Amino acid sequence: MQKLIVNGGRRLHGELKLQGSKNSALPIMAACVLSSEECSLRNCPRLTDVYSAARILNCLGCRCSFSGNTVTADPSGINATEIPESLMRQMRSSIMFMGAIIGRMGECTVSVPGGCELGPRPIDMHLAALRKMGVSVSDSGGRIVCRAERLHGAKISLPFPSVGATENVILCGVCAEGETVLNNAAREPEICDLCSFLRACGAQIKGDGGSRIVISGRAELHGCEYTVMPDRIAGATYLSMTAAAGGEIILTDACVPEMEPFLSVLEQTGCSIYTKDDSIYLRSGPRLRCVRERIRTMPHPGFPTDAQAVLMAALCKADGTSVFEENIFDCRYRHTDALNKMGADIQVLGKVAVVRGVRSLHGAEVEATDLRGGAAMVAAALSAEGETVITELHHIDRGYEKIEEAAASLGGDIRRV
Ligand code: UD1
Repeated sequence: MQKLIVNGGRRLHGELKLQGSKNSALPIMAACVLSSEECSLRNCPRLTDVYSAARILNCLGCRCSFSGNTVTADPSGINATEIPESLMRQMRSSIMFMGAIIGRMGECTVSVPGGCELGPRPIDMHLAALRKMGVSVSDSGGRIVCRAERLHGAKISLPFPSVGATENVILCGVCAEGETVLNNAAREPEICDLCSFLRACGAQIKGDGGSRIVISGRAELHGCEYTVMPDRIAGATYLSMTAAAGGEIILTDACVPEMEPFLSVLEQTGCSIYTKDDSIYLRSGPRLRCVRERIRTMPHPGFPTDAQAVLMAALCKADGTSVFEENIFDCRYRHTDALNKMGADIQVLGKVAVVRGVRSLHGAEVEATDLRGGAAMVAAALSAEGETVITELHHIDRGYEKIEEAAASLGGDIRRV
């Protein structure tokens, strides 16, 4: 069993190139299914979720290979419509392949996807939207069987701006006959990245980044070369880590406007933050200040739920009390037990977490509970006195390209054994 051993208390300083976005690379890899020719995706992070997506592509008959951070996918030989349950279970994003396979083949068989346990994560909105586009959905021995005699455009309004449902509608819509209008669409930057990729393949999509997306269906997409956007959540993680441990960092290859909802909150802790082009400089003060206004997670451009845990890790030692309100997922405070074990003072009441700043944290043995919760433990460990041992690293490895190497390059005393 692998562990991270962290000896905290060292200030961090240095420059770090931000990895490519996991949440962008995954739906874009699914979108490769729709192309008739080879696609080359640069800046794909090398992490287990991306490897899972490559395995799904390969099992569909789409040859997929890595060269450094470039993924090449040749979908010309796609002949399968079914994703085995074992692959579906490896991550939430496996469900993105549903829209893409139906778009290309008119049918698919999948099962309920896996991913972090953040409370119930249904796919009712995905299925309701696909039904409106002419897809019949049935259950066969626990498998979800989708068929479309004629996939057609539709007017769809999502009850909540779900990222995954928005992506599935877009993937299906580019192949459907006629126009699809999606209202109350998610506005996350990764949606725009997916649409930019599809446009580079010849798709006609307008309005992404706003709440109303209009897709003109088109039968065949060609190949392209594309660069995946930077990972704003990994960026939030390394900035929070530096704020927690103290020190200064220059984050390069970052997406500054897309990180603004996070940066504007982080700035309230008293850290000096300067941005220029695609770089972010952060210097922490002697002690962080609490954030006075309630930190409410919301769909983009609100404060991202994926950055809640890592910012909380930084605020454990802040001067004063900070309050979080988690509005996206029902069960996204599973990291707080580990942080409390390290000496933090966090009380959770339903969707609210109250973080009373303490003077210091101490090392402990903790288990990563989920991807971002695990990253929060790494940040807390780097700021704690003494040794922390973190296990269940498979959660962290789903979303970070060698988190220990990144932290060590900034001067953190962290190693994997
Ligand atoms: C994506 C991100 C995840 C991020 C989340 C919210 C990827 C791979 N994952 O997840 O990192 O935390 O957006 O920004 O991009 N819901 C339903 N029914 C549905 C779909 C969603 O009730 O059919 C609910 C979910 O349970 C959740 C909320 O809607 O409470 C938001 O989910 P959604 O935006 O779909 O998140 P994901 O696409 O799963």
